[in-house]
Amino acid sequence: MGTAIEDRATQTESSPPASEGLLRFITCGSVDDGKSTLIGRLLYETGSIPEDQLATLRRDSLRYGTTGEDVDYSLLVDGLEAEREQAITIDVAYRFFTTSERRFIVADTPGHEQYTRNMATGASTADLAIVLVDARKGLLTQTRRHSLIASLMGIAHVVLAVNKIDLVDFDQVIFEEISADYKAAVEAFNFRSLVAIPLSARFGDNVIDQSRRMPWYHGPSLLQQLEGLELGEAVSRPFRMPVQLVSRPNSNFRGYAGTIASGRIRPGDRVTVAVSGRQTQVTEIITADGALLEAHPGNAITLVLADDLDISRGDVLAASDAPVGVADQFQAHMIWLSETALQSGRTYLFKLAARTISGSITRIRHRLDLNTHGQMQADELALNEVGVVNLSFATAVAFESYAESRDLGGFIVIDRQSNATIGVGMIDFALRRATNIRWQELDVDRAARAALKGQKPAVLWFTGLSGAGKSTIANLLERKLHAEGLHTCVLDGDNVRHGLNRDLGFTEADRVENIRRVGEVAALMADAGLLVIVSFISPYQADRDAAREKLPPGEFLEVFIDTPIEECRRRDPKGLYSKADAGLIQNFTGVNAPYETPAAPDIRVRASAATAEESVEQVLQELRLRALC
Ligand code: ADX
Repeated sequence: MGTAIEDRATQTESSPPASEGLLRFITCGSVDDGKSTLIGRLLYETGSIPEDQLATLRRDSLRYGTTGEDVDYSLLVDGLEAEREQAITIDVAYRFFTTSERRFIVADTPGHEQYTRNMATGASTADLAIVLVDARKGLLTQTRRHSLIASLMGIAHVVLAVNKIDLVDFDQVIFEEISADYKAAVEAFNFRSLVAIPLSARFGDNVIDQSRRMPWYHGPSLLQQLEGLELGEAVSRPFRMPVQLVSRPNSNFRGYAGTIASGRIRPGDRVTVAVSGRQTQVTEIITADGALLEAHPGNAITLVLADDLDISRGDVLAASDAPVGVADQFQAHMIWLSETALQSGRTYLFKLAARTISGSITRIRHRLDLNTHGQMQADELALNEVGVVNLSFATAVAFESYAESRDLGGFIVIDRQSNATIGVGMIDFALRRATNIRWQELDVDRAARAALKGQKPAVLWFTGLSGAGKSTIANLLERKLHAEGLHTCVLDGDNVRHGLNRDLGFTEADRVENIRRVGEVAALMADAGLLVIVSFISPYQADRDAAREKLPPGEFLEVFIDTPIEECRRRDPKGLYSKADAGLIQNFTGVNAPYETPAAPDIRVRASAATAEESVEQVLQELRLRALC
């Protein structure tokens, strides 16, 4: 340990990176492997607990503790009442402690299978994972699962803590068997360092100092391993800074604020702006504490540039001699964190570096079996499943692979409606197709095409249950518009499913794809200058919203043909409801598949309270209001 620390000390003399000396780690283990006790002991023994909290701890140990008369260290970190009662940890908690050698931040992540989300959160910034196993039990399914997630999330260093070694009489053979099993299990994960330590969190053996009770063990104690670990520094990589904020307090000043992801920067350095590719020079580096001559990874700075370029939030400033990649399609690993399965083709929001953009998973290449590490074919990813996917963003972004940069290669997926984080992802590489296909500019544009027809293009998107009257109203509406001399086209679900979409059924995944294709076709038809009437059940709001996004604002009208299901059943024009009730049709909308009522339709037609003629008249009035007919 001594030499390693001295080496580091001499290195830091010349230029201290912001993160020097800081080690971030997570602990992972199953419910009662002793994580909380271990963290509690680390905090206690490093003198990180204030005296008043210690008094509370002693009192609580007697009340809630599981260690008899002794202090129960797990109570230090199991802060929540619910945890105490159930004796499991249920949220990520970050704790700080310091020794003479180093500063530490530990994310206490839960061991329950359903809490993968929290582990992924803690792992995304960690340098090291302590994987706990109970010496009496050896490796569990969870042990492998947590190690895979740690590896996917870019954690390079692992300590296998074989805990409760006192309960197996400090047996060397048991320890060696478990560490050999573990090394074999994670061989493919390419951890940069992996050290197994036999310890007892409860009694402190090998936690701070080497235990005298295991003379056969010659390795470091846990704290010695944490203190002595050498980290690769982001400082040696080329300069990259995602722009978080364009700061323009007055007309004389414009600066670009962000946190440096990698590399150093000095006034005079040339930087290239991604996505635009424009170059300029840094003239000044400003921080809360004044100007800097040099800045490092982790520093929050504002850069002043020599030229007035068009730079906005989410752009990335990169060293001009090592520009950053730009693409809109990628292969990525994903961990899905939502109860609602990931559907390929559905659009989601993606947040990567400082940018939030719309995009979709175009294909699930395979799912990873967390136990066997095998590749499984998959149409969707369910909660906590890990997969390799292709994804496509609405616009090109600056990126690096996650292996190169967590900051520029990591992303989260956000649900458009609830704003919840529903997945995390790690970019593997850009797909070549992304760089080999360019948008072809055409001389005759959509405005010219529409002008020739003397009309404004629009998509009228009819949504509603089967039997709601969509097709009838669509048909009558087109007749009227046609009679007025307008150029129209109707896309009807049943008809399109005879041709373009004949390969699709009625599972959620197929419906997503059905609506995606029809949305594309409708947008192309609007490009041609037409008034397009789309008549599909289109049961999912997210898919209707995605269709809307393909058109300029105001050119997409969501028309909800609002007929109560009782009325649709009574009409049952194709006899499908009775078949569905008899169990002869799977996934029938309204019976055994969902219909998401439009949250804010542009037009709502209460079709059961009016004749078809009256409903059409209502839609025509709305179109006239918008000068569409
Ligand atoms: S959507 O949900 O994918 O938008 P779409 O509008 O294309 O559905 O097709 C719906 C039509 O397919 C219905 O009008 C009905 O005639 C027929 N159909 C056959 N099976 C089903 C089913 N399981 N659910 C709904 N409609 C079905």
